Amino acid sequence: MEIYLANPTGLCFGVKRAINTLEEALLLNENVYSLGSPIHNSQEVERLKKLGLIVVKSVDDIPDNEVSFVRAHGVTAQIYSQLKAKSKKMVDGTCPFVKTAQERASALSKDGYIVVILGDVEHPEVKGIMGYASGEVYVLSEKDKIPGYLKGKKIGILSQTTQKVASFTKLVEVIRSIAKEVKVYNTICKATLARQEAVSKLALFVDKMIIIGGKDSANTQKLVEISLSESIDTQWIEHPDELNRRWLKETEKIGIAAGGSTPDWLIKKLTQKLKEM
Ligand code: F3S
Repeated sequence: MEIYLANPTGLCFGVKRAINTLEEALLLNENVYSLGSPIHNSQEVERLKKLGLIVVKSVDDIPDNEVSFVRAHGVTAQIYSQLKAKSKKMVDGTCPFVKTAQERASALSKDGYIVVILGDVEHPEVKGIMGYASGEVYVLSEKDKIPGYLKGKKIGILSQTTQKVASFTKLVEVIRSIAKEVKVYNTICKATLARQEAVSKLALFVDKMIIIGGKDSANTQKLVEISLSESIDTQWIEHPDELNRRWLKETEKIGIAAGGSTPDWLIKKLTQKLKEM
């Protein structure tokens, strides 16, 4: 069996930066508190917990005068201020691209635009961006119909960083046709796009595809969708131990792609396991 790795794949700039920042903080402090999972990969979070990371559900769960960490996906402006006020030190791991989307949302609101975000309303990154818009803000997924109340309004459009470009272009087109005025900021991250294109390319010459990444990782899910849309038999795993030997039987060329929060050590482990097979 020949093994092919998508290129680029795995850790994106923002998550790598967040992990490095967190590791540095853990070297200097016994514990660091993260509100919610710092990145969407449970295996990597478990590794960081062993170094002193404590993941909490609310700001109130963080004792005063401790070190807090803002995850790669960011938090709302309100939570950001709360963390800053109660921590001895706040370490900001927000990806600079997510920060840009937050700033755009804030500026659009101030300029009187209704903010429309293409994304998943439940995703922490989207919740964070929404929290920076001081006026009306709506989140639409690619499946949603454009609500009639946006007709004739001033609309600013942004995207969750991990959305598909084609979905964003389509949304912009439809909103342009009904709105009075439109301002568009394509906040889709290039790292995401490059990883999506790499999967499409790889799908052209492999028989099957393994996508490794957290089940709570939006960008990993998109990679799975793209692979399936290329009619490639695809398996989504979080850990190499989940590999299905029977599924791999008689496969000549296997492709591997990893989500933007999948650490290198997990990809290596997967490649190693496949070689042993
Ligand atoms: Fe940032 Fe893009 Fe990664 S927004 S967290 S570099 S996917």
